[in-house]
Amino acid sequence: MIQITKRDRLKFLAGGASLLLFGCGSGGGSAPVAPPPPTGGGGSGPQPIGFRPNLLSDTYQGQFRVGAALANSRISPPDASANLLLDQFNLMTPEWELKPDILSPAEGVYNFADADRIVDWAIANNLEVRGHTLLWHESVPAYMLQGTRDQIRTKLENYITTVMQHFAGRITSWDVVNEVVSVDIYNGASGVGPDRDTVWYQAVGNADYLDWALTAARAADPNAKLFLSDYETENPIKRDWLLEILRRFESRGVPIDGVGHQCHLQINTDPQEVLNTIDAIESEFPSLTNHVTELDVNMYDDPGTCWQSQSGCQADIGPNPPDSLLADQAQLLRTLFDGLTGRPSVEMVNFWGVKDDDSWLNDAPIQRYNYPLLFDRNGDPKPAYYAITDPNYVI
Ligand code: XIL
Repeated sequence: MIQITKRDRLKFLAGGASLLLFGCGSGGGSAPVAPPPPTGGGGSGPQPIGFRPNLLSDTYQGQFRVGAALANSRISPPDASANLLLDQFNLMTPEWELKPDILSPAEGVYNFADADRIVDWAIANNLEVRGHTLLWHESVPAYMLQGTRDQIRTKLENYITTVMQHFAGRITSWDVVNEVVSVDIYNGASGVGPDRDTVWYQAVGNADYLDWALTAARAADPNAKLFLSDYETENPIKRDWLLEILRRFESRGVPIDGVGHQCHLQINTDPQEVLNTIDAIESEFPSLTNHVTELDVNMYDDPGTCWQSQSGCQADIGPNPPDSLLADQAQLLRTLFDGLTGRPSVEMVNFWGVKDDDSWLNDAPIQRYNYPLLFDRNGDPKPAYYAITDPNYVI
């Protein structure tokens, strides 16, 4: 079996393809530090596949694209996360360059330079680009929520039209509205279910802004696919509210092409519940597609108070995650990916970052080590990577 050192691999990822041959031929200098070889497949059984360029995207070729979120700070020059993205994935979502407060901090002011840079970098590297997000209750420039209903509607429609026309032909799908399904599961009966009591809902007086956003998006770029995206769509209560909103869109003729399931999962999440939500959508809305938009597996099983008030959070695992947790994460993702490949409405799966230290979960809901992604802080594949790319890998 060819032994590729980690240093060789990173140089390969940085474009030194010839080095791979050199490294193999001459031993490549220092002692091999290749990623931990996948377990299993010992003896005469099928051999493990191991780590190779394009293995992740190849594994799901013809089923769905596999992507990751990336920030502009990682592409000039491409860092380890950007190089792994180029080597293993075929889709990219700008982590925050396309959010409203970044693109348009004041009415009529648009700053496209940063977003153009990362979008054009991705396209130049044959990555498809997802747009995230045109409307959210966070990252909202103050001007958008000021004025009468009609004035707010006009500003929202102008914003969406300007942004989508700017990226038309480069961004193929958009999270038009993000995190708009009720969260009253955690807030008690105060809510306005099925709709979330967002700053938009309060400024407009109801959920009509969802219709306005999606209708403006369809008019702005008829070729783009339009999504409602949310987290915890795997929660049965939130699933029902999501279906209620989709029924309302259908009855009103509001244009939408699919649902984005953020899938910010926890280590104790049952992946079957994610699949149950996708099945419910496939069954009732066969014309809609499903995207997994922000996949990560949080290594903590926190109570809701940890997110709401940073209280009751589990203690920091520290710099070395237990093998048992990594194995649980690998099994969860293998079950999820096996289920996703069996559902024709699933068009893409986007992780919310590449390496564990990229993740927003190292800072949210509190600062502590987290290990939610496929690659560790050294850029080496974790058990979760092998679990979803090698059926012979024994977790
Ligand atoms: C997060 C980013 O990862 C952070 O870098 C940023 O500081 C805040 O936003 N749901 C979403 C994403 O829809 O936009 C959020 O991304 C994570 C939760």
